[in-house]
Amino acid sequence: MTDASIRTDMVAACKKLEADGLNRGASGNISVRDGTHMLITPTAVAYDVIAPGMMARTRLDDPDGGWEGPNAPSSEWRFHRDILRARADINAVVHTHAPWCTVLAVARRPIPAIHYMIAAFGGPVIRVADYARYGTQDLSDNIIAAMQGRNGCLMANHGMVVGGPDLTRALWLAGELEALAHQYFHALTIGGGHVLTDAQIEETALGFQSYGVRAGGSA
Ligand code: 13P
Repeated sequence: MTDASIRTDMVAACKKLEADGLNRGASGNISVRDGTHMLITPTAVAYDVIAPGMMARTRLDDPDGGWEGPNAPSSEWRFHRDILRARADINAVVHTHAPWCTVLAVARRPIPAIHYMIAAFGGPVIRVADYARYGTQDLSDNIIAAMQGRNGCLMANHGMVVGGPDLTRALWLAGELEALAHQYFHALTIGGGHVLTDAQIEETALGFQSYGVRAGGSA
């Protein structure tokens, strides 16, 4: 993909997150790997006015988050950079304050295997990354730990983050994680859901290989 097509896809992804109710205003951010660099959404720009030329381009090996472009990168550039550096299986990262994920994140409730679709995230539990202030290296370190062997996690008192092999898959995972959070919240209100076994989730992940849904989290 060219730099130009990545930027166009990122704008479309921002609009889709907004239209799907997964993001609001300037909260949330997206990054996409481009060789030794990443393109990342600008800080403090609402998705209804975002444009391809506003994306910041930053080296993945730059410890200081230096960037090219008219706008500074998202304040969350550290965890985007660190996920892309740590995970060769992930080329696109989506972070939002999606409502149902955030409800569980403020309650610090990991999502257990109450639906077989959790297998698409690489294992039987979606963890909650420990709290640290937005934009910090501590938050990034906590997210990397919570995403071990997983394609996504909740972020305590903040929101959620997912990563996929491409932006289309990362967007799909964002919607699936919000659906799981929605289902789990409502199951809790009627006494909690029945939790599938680890073997049942492994069996589902194997089934996905021939169905077309890649189970992730190979790190
Ligand atoms: P940015 O506008 O800097 O991307 O930050 C929004 C956000 O969601 C921080 O977690």
